[in-house]
Amino acid sequence: MITSLIPATGGAIDDDALHRLYAYPVTDRPYVRFNFVAAADGAATSGGFSAGLGNDGDKRIFTVLRRLADVVLVGAGTIRAEGYGGELVDDDARSWRRGHGLAEHPAVAVISGSLDLDPSSDFFGQAPVRPLILTSTGAAADRRTALERVADVVDCGTDTVEAPAALAELGRRGLLKIICEGGPAVLGDFTRSGAVDELCLSISPLLAGGDGPRIAVGRSPEAAIGLTLSSLLAEDSALYTLYRRAG
Ligand SMILES: NC(=O)c1ccc[n+]([C@@H]2O[C@H](COP(=O)([O-])OP(=O)(O)OC[C@H]3O[C@@H](n4cnc5c(N)ncnc54)[C@H](OP(=O)(O)O)[C@@H]3O)[C@@H](O)[C@H]2O)c1
Repeated sequence: MITSLIPATGGAIDDDALHRLYAYPVTDRPYVRFNFVAAADGAATSGGFSAGLGNDGDKRIFTVLRRLADVVLVGAGTIRAEGYGGELVDDDARSWRRGHGLAEHPAVAVISGSLDLDPSSDFFGQAPVRPLILTSTGAAADRRTALERVADVVDCGTDTVEAPAALAELGRRGLLKIICEGGPAVLGDFTRSGAVDELCLSISPLLAGGDGPRIAVGRSPEAAIGLTLSSLLAEDSALYTLYRRAG
């Protein structure tokens, strides 16, 4: 049973309340929401995956976040680690989306500089909508050719994918409500670019130990982004935060 600590409402939070809580603001520009789960010791993985950190409440919120989004944005490292094959939303979510004026399936976009992605993987073979790959002009031509058979491949930078260019491409496609499911390299990069509007962070009641990454890694976040806590939910000993960019 998920309850709300901030704002304190008392009682269980139902799905309608979750939809209201996580509703995107009305926006005419790409709005970037990140969703992560971390252990209480800051680890973003347990045994190399995020799945070992989640619980039922986390999965419920994860589902709601996908349901509300125009596009699921994810880094190539997360695709390589976690697969992402098959449909990203279930029958209920598709029906809810149709009823709320959204495309039946959210679009899916992958950030990859190397284009080291397998065109014959389930991610491409089972995708209900043709994936979009955001890459840079420096990517290997042979990999690009192979991936263009199964996805739209768009350059958003020369040596690396630049977050503003990636967001501009999503905006051109009318994909304004963005749920970015990581991973840590993407959050680190978007933080450096100042391209984060929200962070939904689930804190798992677990000391994961080991040497898993934290939720943002990479180049120094010189443009650190201040956050304001917008809501705090709980289930058992797990916490579900929603932070918005301060100011
Ligand atoms: N705790 C959580 O909620 C959570 C969420 C997601 C993932 N994870 C975990 O995080 C681990 C993966 O970490 P990760 O940092 O490798 O994942 P990632 O951020 O998904 O992927 C990193 C890759 O994305 C591409 N990339 C990111 N920024 C780029 C840029 N500006 N320009 C070009 N390419 C860029 C690069 O791909 P190329 O190498 O193809 O160039 C890079 O190697 C996995 O173990 C996964 O399970 C945890």
